[in-house]
Amino acid sequence: MEVSVDEPAHGALRLGNRDGLPDDIAFLRAHYPRGDWRLHTNFGQLADFWLQVHASLRHEGSEVSRLVDAFRDRQIDAIQLQRAFVPLLNGFLQHLDQHHRIEDSLYFPKFRLLDERMVVGFDLLEADHTQIHHHLVATVEHARGLLNALSAPGETARRAADNYADTARNLLDLLVKHLADEEELVIPAMLQHGERPLT
Ligand SMILES: [Fe+2]
Ligand SMILES: [Fe+2]
Repeated sequence: MEVSVDEPAHGALRLGNRDGLPDDIAFLRAHYPRGDWRLHTNFGQLADFWLQVHASLRHEGSEVSRLVDAFRDRQIDAIQLQRAFVPLLNGFLQHLDQHHRIEDSLYFPKFRLLDERMVVGFDLLEADHTQIHHHLVATVEHARGLLNALSAPGETARRAADNYADTARNLLDLLVKHLADEEELVIPAMLQHGERPLT
């Protein structure tokens, strides 16, 4: 079965609309509670790496927000923001984009093969990536707007920073939800089946 999140019937499952994954999609979740993952004998390097990448994405995303908030709160000036913002944002968005590409092309197809009941969940996660990508593009556009506004007089730059912050917050909110939902599919599947079929 293929889920298209563009279909109205699945609107409630769209990232941002849903409140976590339903039990029938995260059907292994109850057997493998998050607090016990690292204690399981099948918890291996890939699971550990996956969680590390997610932790790093959350951290990088919040670091960019922290920097822009420092400018909005007048703790740093436009020159300091400009110097730090571009490498920080580029690093975060490149890591995010690379991670999603690897999941879509390499790992998600392997998860779908583990058990046909996995297909619906991984189709949903792939649709999340598309949705997140639209927000990533919007964030880049607002970042350009902010950079262009940094040399402008008056409050123009602060307003551009506020606009950027709204867009980036939407991206980060969706990403954080996606990462949590994905972990509840990916890690229990690894514990159930082992990591060998995924490598
Ligand atoms: Fe993902
Ligand atoms: Fe991921």
